[in-house]
Amino acid sequence: MFERHRHRLVERMTDAVAVFFAAPEQVRNNDVHFDYRQDSDFFFLTGFEEPEAVLVVAPQRPEGERVAIFLRPRDPEREVWDGKRLGVDAAPEALGVDAAHDLAELGEKLPDYLVGARTLYFALGQHAEHDEAVMAALAKSRRARREGRETPAAIVDPGEVLHPLRLIKDASALASMRKAAALTALGHRRAMAVTAPGVHEYQLQAAMEYEWAVRGARRQAYPSIVGSGPNACVLHYRDNTRRLDEGDLVLVDAGCEFGYHASDVTRTWPASGRFTDAQRAVYEAVLDAQKAAIAHCVPGNTFDSVHTVAVKVLTEHMVKLGLLEGPAEDRIADEGYKRYYMHRTGHWLGMDVHDVGRYHVEGDSRPLEAGMVLTVEPGLYIAPDDTQAPEALRGIGVRIEDDVLVTADGPDVLTQDIPKEVADVEALVGSASLALDEAASS
Ligand code: GLY
Ligand code: MN
Ligand code: MN
Repeated sequence: MFERHRHRLVERMTDAVAVFFAAPEQVRNNDVHFDYRQDSDFFFLTGFEEPEAVLVVAPQRPEGERVAIFLRPRDPEREVWDGKRLGVDAAPEALGVDAAHDLAELGEKLPDYLVGARTLYFALGQHAEHDEAVMAALAKSRRARREGRETPAAIVDPGEVLHPLRLIKDASALASMRKAAALTALGHRRAMAVTAPGVHEYQLQAAMEYEWAVRGARRQAYPSIVGSGPNACVLHYRDNTRRLDEGDLVLVDAGCEFGYHASDVTRTWPASGRFTDAQRAVYEAVLDAQKAAIAHCVPGNTFDSVHTVAVKVLTEHMVKLGLLEGPAEDRIADEGYKRYYMHRTGHWLGMDVHDVGRYHVEGDSRPLEAGMVLTVEPGLYIAPDDTQAPEALRGIGVRIEDDVLVTADGPDVLTQDIPKEVADVEALVGSASLALDEAASS
């Protein structure tokens, strides 16, 4: 699979060499690092999860030298502490590359790999150390010009050639995304089930993340948002510390990552298991907009038009709810709707939760194509202190988010197993208990 990805990359390169770095490790505190996750581009091309590695794809080189990896050598002493390293000798076969070198040889060997190419694909500006290593190699490679040989005259973002490949999901990407979606569904269902007044946001988070962790998802796709009551109106709320009150809505925006692919789901439900009339009215407005926007996710419609549909339906509801004065077209034109709907309706989803791929092509919004996956996530957020809003609606925050695969046969909602109809949500909320023992829950 990773070899196929490299092959497809090479097909898109002309007179070019490409250099990709593994994600650097990040210090958390003192000698402890944050959990390591490989860079998505690097993983897409190698399947290799160790830090401190560099992939070079150099199709202009003679056969047997076209794909090289620089990596950490074996080190029995370090391996006792940190676990086994692949090492230089085993790398060619394990990774399907032509050559492997000790990372310490990068400065000496990288210049040769650059010779003979006109363009260097490298993600300049992300990490100063990587920039420095590549600039040094580039400068050194120029010596070859004396012998009349080409060296790169331009540095181009590798996303230009690589990210179109990530944007259209292949079968293996989709298999991972379906699995991530299925595990995320279990987690959301569990969080709904154990919801009750008095439960804390972090307890819902733990119940949800357990469901996917125990089934092999190694991490969240992004930090889980569990916002109850007024916290539902904080778009990137992450404290997750509040205790649920009887009349609260709970907004959970969370998804696991499986096989280096993300899921990204939001559901909003009542702590008590019953929406109040005001909550239901806002909820159904968002649901209506979400369904209309999802139906619009078909090949040929532009990415922006999905947002436009959501804004239209939401704004009509805002007028009906008494949040805005009509007519709705005027509130769309003067962007009055942004008071209650201030974010976009979705984004590409894939290896990264906000995935790569251009949203515009030559200045125009990009038409959707089969194989793209995007989120559809409208919401309405009425601040608790918004004196312009009808009193009954103040403090209500609702978002509903699903992951949608565009297909020739229409939208395929990967996360459809997570209830979102009012009756289904109400039936599930409070149907189980956290079952903490007395000592642990006090
Ligand atoms: N959870 C991040 C987002 O919905 O975009
Ligand atoms: Mn989300
Ligand atoms: Mn999202």
